[in-house]
Amino acid sequence: MILVVGGAGYIGSHLVKELVETEEVVVLDNLSTGHREAVDSRAIFVKGDLGNVDDLVMVFRSYPIKAVMHFAANSLVGESVVDPLKYYDNNVASTIMLLKVMQRFKVKNFIFSSTAATYGIPNVDIIDETTPAAPINPYGRSKLMVEQILADFSKAYGLNYVVLRYFNAAGAHQSAVIGESHDPETHLIPIVLQHLLGTRDKVSVFGSDYDTEDGTCIRDYIHVMDLAAAHILALQALLNGKKSAEIYNLGNGLGYSVKEVIETCERVTGIKANVEMADRRPGDPARLVASAKKIYDELGWKAEKNLEQIIADAWKWHQKQTY
Ligand code: UFG
Repeated sequence: MILVVGGAGYIGSHLVKELVETEEVVVLDNLSTGHREAVDSRAIFVKGDLGNVDDLVMVFRSYPIKAVMHFAANSLVGESVVDPLKYYDNNVASTIMLLKVMQRFKVKNFIFSSTAATYGIPNVDIIDETTPAAPINPYGRSKLMVEQILADFSKAYGLNYVVLRYFNAAGAHQSAVIGESHDPETHLIPIVLQHLLGTRDKVSVFGSDYDTEDGTCIRDYIHVMDLAAAHILALQALLNGKKSAEIYNLGNGLGYSVKEVIETCERVTGIKANVEMADRRPGDPARLVASAKKIYDELGWKAEKNLEQIIADAWKWHQKQTY
């Protein structure tokens, strides 16, 4: 049985929907930002808190867990600057608790959701895993701290782990039964689509004077189901004893500017957006584009879906959003 912590959240719930096809799954989530409706009915759902040792022990006692996938974290850069305690508490201290309980129950396999925010403002156009980690906010630092803890635990206790550094997750399950639903929503693609649906009056472009081709920030958008597929390959590699203590970037390897994303949303939906140029958002690097060559070479994963498919799937979801 696989324990998915944070399996009711955006990325976790998409992974669970795929994972239940081949594995027995138990989801632990406190529903602070996740949605009960997003958890596939084939998974066992336990409402509980990662920071609560009793909740964790109960789950490990009740189910024969062979691996843990950890998606439960706060992930808003701006909020992390204003309230770093929340980030170090929920993202670092709670993860230590989880690792402690795993050790007690002799569970050795761990997959950790990390982020491009660990790279800070990189001085290369294409980021690979040798690009130095230099986060510029508490969110990125909280993720990097856990990565470092995992490396130490691997050496000292034989923990097997894979870290997956996501670039910009977007899109929805092809069935449109689950999708992205954050409150507040801060991400570009859902914001544009909500506007095109009529629930926001405009889209603000945060900064048009960056040192990029059209002056707006460039990001590497990756379909959430491509992310799910990468997790499943990483899990198989861990369970087969093939890989451990590895860090992989997960991205498309293609950068799109904020303007290009908005134009693609207009093209996919056939609706024109009302766009205003606004000030830069503090802490935004001009360009974040991944090389995902390492995971292709070692596990055979590559992103299958392009920006149009990401937006088309997200659009299907937003039109019938159920939670
Ligand atoms: N943007 C706008 N207008 C909006 C929303 C976003 O112009 O209304 C811009 C942002 O300034 C940025 C780009 O669109 O240039 C993408 O922004 P998102 O908020 O969608 O995503 P981020 O790149 O800021 O965030 C992602 C992850 C974070 C991670 C970060 C690393 O969601 O978890 O990458 O920098 F920390």
